[in-house]
Amino acid sequence: IASAEATPALEARVARAQIAPPGYPDTEVWAYDGALPGPTLRVPQGERLARRFVNALPQPSSVHWHGIRIANAMDGVAGLTQEAVEPGAEFLYDFALPDAGTYWYHPHNRSWEQMARGLYGALIVEEAEGAPEVDLDEVLLIDDWRMTDTAEIAGGFGELHDWAHAGRIGNWITVNGDGAWTREVPSKTRMRLRLVNTANARIFELESQGLSGWVVALDGMPLETPEPLDGLTLAPAQRADLIVDVTAEDGGEALLLSLERDGGYAIASFPVRGVADSPERGAPTPLPPNPMAALGDLGTARRAELLMEGGAMGRMSGAMMDGRQVDMREMAAAGKVWAFNGMADMPETPLIEAARGETVRIAIANDTAWAHGMHLHGHHFRRVAEDGSLGPWRDTLLMERGETAEIAFVADNPGDWLLHCHMLEHSAGGMMTWLRVT
Ligand code: C2O
Ligand code: CU
Ligand code: CU
Repeated sequence: IASAEATPALEARVARAQIAPPGYPDTEVWAYDGALPGPTLRVPQGERLARRFVNALPQPSSVHWHGIRIANAMDGVAGLTQEAVEPGAEFLYDFALPDAGTYWYHPHNRSWEQMARGLYGALIVEEAEGAPEVDLDEVLLIDDWRMTDTAEIAGGFGELHDWAHAGRIGNWITVNGDGAWTREVPSKTRMRLRLVNTANARIFELESQGLSGWVVALDGMPLETPEPLDGLTLAPAQRADLIVDVTAEDGGEALLLSLERDGGYAIASFPVRGVADSPERGAPTPLPPNPMAALGDLGTARRAELLMEGGAMGRMSGAMMDGRQVDMREMAAAGKVWAFNGMADMPETPLIEAARGETVRIAIANDTAWAHGMHLHGHHFRRVAEDGSLGPWRDTLLMERGETAEIAFVADNPGDWLLHCHMLEHSAGGMMTWLRVT
């Protein structure tokens, strides 16, 4: 356990960064250590990470270590696992890292505003052994900003329109804070690309050009079998680890593209110069698995149901007409426009209480007109298909409108854990509940 004085600081503060294209002024952001993105923390699996969080922001804050199976008191949820850290105050985070993979950190207090202003960074836990051999390992934090035409971050945080609809969809995409992120590489380079969607609300549909390869991990957790890369959907907070080879030729360009309905644009470009004399390496072997407890008998698992409601006016009046306990009009006036099981915002009692080691199943129905990205703290879960087959371990599940899904996990981490939509305006607008593991 680290002593406070000897622990390196991680300071959240107001800073300036060149996010917009050349010719525009730089932008006032909120950033960890004044850098955008915050420092990439790389730690070997099984070791501890300690940081003295210093809050130099004009607002209370906290740090959440997204996807880490962390001790509850270190989870960084203001109002649940700790008090918010006041401006000028500090908090010592010190925790073990059981799983290798791509994780990230961000505030968990007014996160819809604090993350929209730039507070986030990557946390990479390196495999103790068995990491794939690559020429280059790049972390790409993909963000969506709402900017004014003078390159300021647009205000209007917490507007009802954003809370009630898709969220704060922006107008400027960056990779690692750069609107034209570029990295020169020789042809035939093998890269591990660690993609993180740090946007408040935008779901990225990604494609690549001049690259071919595999998805080897999702939300930090290795896939049992690498999957050929063929487009990738990345909802807010989701991550994907790719192993790709540069197939574009010398003088060409490899690209990562973000698709829109009517086309696409490059968000990261790899101009190709020269040819690497790398051996032919073929498909990568799977990453070594993380030490996850296997799911117990799903037939006798503890179960809960979660109904996601609200969002559009039609839904609101529908909910009132069925005589449920929700007065959606009052909720909207209070900025609470979403509900889980008829309850807007954190309920006083947990959705489910499980004993340590128990297997839990949660059936989730998205009865809204929008997509949502459901995130569970402190645990990874698997989606259970109707035929009983199990999806990969994840910590954030994209649920399309009208979709139902079932997730299962082993409740092996004691404490109180959030389950919420990671479209940040949605969680602020009511899509937030919690579980207790005793
Ligand atoms: Cu990425 Cu509740 O957080
Ligand atoms: Cu989280
Ligand atoms: Cu949502």
